[in-house]
Amino acid sequence: MPDGSITKTAMLEVGDLHAFYGESHVLHGVSLDVRQGEVVTLLGRNGAGKTTTMRSIMGIVGKRRGSIRFQGQQLIGMAQHRIPRLGIGYVPEERGIFSSLSVDENLTLPPVVKPGGMTVPQIYELFPNLKGRGSTQGTRLSGGEQQMLAIARILRTGATLILLDEPTEGLAPVIIEQIGVAVRALKARGFTIVLVEQNFHFAATIADRHYVMEEGRIVDMIPNDQLHANMDKLHTHLGV
Ligand SMILES: Nc1ncnc2c1ncn2[C@@H]1O[C@H](COP(=O)(O)OP(=O)(O)OP(=O)(O)O)[C@@H](O)[C@H]1O
Ligand SMILES: [Mg+2]
Repeated sequence: MPDGSITKTAMLEVGDLHAFYGESHVLHGVSLDVRQGEVVTLLGRNGAGKTTTMRSIMGIVGKRRGSIRFQGQQLIGMAQHRIPRLGIGYVPEERGIFSSLSVDENLTLPPVVKPGGMTVPQIYELFPNLKGRGSTQGTRLSGGEQQMLAIARILRTGATLILLDEPTEGLAPVIIEQIGVAVRALKARGFTIVLVEQNFHFAATIADRHYVMEEGRIVDMIPNDQLHANMDKLHTHLGV
């Protein structure tokens, strides 16, 4: 378990990151940093490159150039399978749970990569909706429960940096609120979280800072306490 202390050290430092899918050049020099214990969002309209930024960190895009340092270690050039083992957990937009397996099986399937992950009882504490559903098959869960399970299964692994791609997409407001409670609890436990959000009203309730992406670049960084003052600019960037 992370010790909960927030230091000034950047845990993740992305510098001049370019990413490609085949011939298609998608990220054009993304730079951002995330300190230990922070919750940071990536905001931006469809196609801005938010998912590609996360996939680049995980090493699952066609080609990357530039620098991605996690706790000082360079991820560019590192074999893809080594990246989660450093303690980076990725919850993709499509959630990646196994629908034919039970909740308990889904929870215990991802390999523990580092000591200090949460125990299954602690995870059920964090997501009360999953409690008592251990033998329920993935397909029988609601969308919100599936999203909670997708996050939950990463927490056992010992990952300390969690990347969440649109965790609230398509969910009812009451479920979004529960996910917000869980994210705040994870922050309190010392996890570092980067999340992609389209819903910046939700983003404002959980994040320390926001990076705004446009056409494969970071165009702005807004501390959460300045979000309201920047609403007009954000509406322009996000086209909402
Ligand atoms: N597998 C792929 N092959 C080629 N181009 C891709 C691929 N995946 C994404 N792209 C392109 O890369 C750009 C960035 O896509 P990305 O999925 O990172 O955007 P996003 O900000 O996550 O958008 P959304 O809000 O729709 O999820 C888009 O122009 C998209 O069409
Ligand atoms: Mg996306």
